[in-house]
Amino acid sequence: MKSELIVHEKPKSNVSEAFKTIRTNLQFSSIDEEVKSFLVTSSIPSEGKSFVSANLGVAFAQAGNKVLIVDCDLRRGRQHTIFGLNNHLGLSNLLIDNSDRKDNKYFQKTNVKNLFVLTRGLVPPNPSEILASEKNRNLVKILEKTFDVVIYDGPPVNGLADSIIMADIVQKVIIVSSYKATKMEQLLNTKKGLEKFSNKLAGVIVNKMPTRRDHYYSYYE
Ligand SMILES: Nc1ncnc2c1ncn2[C@@H]1O[C@H](COP(=O)(O)OP(=O)(O)OP(=O)(O)O)[C@@H](O)[C@H]1O
Ligand SMILES: [Mg+2]
Repeated sequence: MKSELIVHEKPKSNVSEAFKTIRTNLQFSSIDEEVKSFLVTSSIPSEGKSFVSANLGVAFAQAGNKVLIVDCDLRRGRQHTIFGLNNHLGLSNLLIDNSDRKDNKYFQKTNVKNLFVLTRGLVPPNPSEILASEKNRNLVKILEKTFDVVIYDGPPVNGLADSIIMADIVQKVIIVSSYKATKMEQLLNTKKGLEKFSNKLAGVIVNKMPTRRDHYYSYYE
């Protein structure tokens, strides 16, 4: 299977350059506070949230940051597949773990230096409830202190409460939109869904944009 970690595999490619530009823009997305946590979401499934989260994580790690990607798509998350990891102990498991000493067993090392992944874990019957828990809120705060950058790969906004819940907890929100696939109405619905957090919107990434030299390209505006 072809690796999706373009920024790791082909650091000189156009796609990698685009991710580095996005990284720089995000670093400057707030002047008043140090931004550490980003939620990546989109309007509908398959626009590229997981692809963008993974490659953005690599781009931040390459710049020397200690990075954690948290798969908070408790229904369909697939960061473990992207990084070739197991999904035995993930976010859902961590949030129901009541033991005092949790060690670092939940944070898996990857082949990329400085980059760790907290996979989604077992699919729970009540994802929204788990994400809305006080425990999750506390976890986000702890992770902001433990890592330089934390990227939350979320589910789509339309029809689900999960990403709205996460948007409330994290510092910044990134919307991924798929070139030609996302309808304007869907994007506007997403914007409306996230209206309460408009001050947190870091930007929109237009994904899967064809270019002459590359089959695909990411663009940030
Ligand atoms: N820029 C890109 N170029 C080529 N393929 C891409 C690009 N972005 C995403 N893909 C591919 O599109 C598919 C869907 O991407 P991805 O899983 O990242 O979307 P998603 O928004 O996370 O989906 P879901 O809503 O199911 O979580 C994957 O096979 C991924 O490899
Ligand atoms: Mg995904």
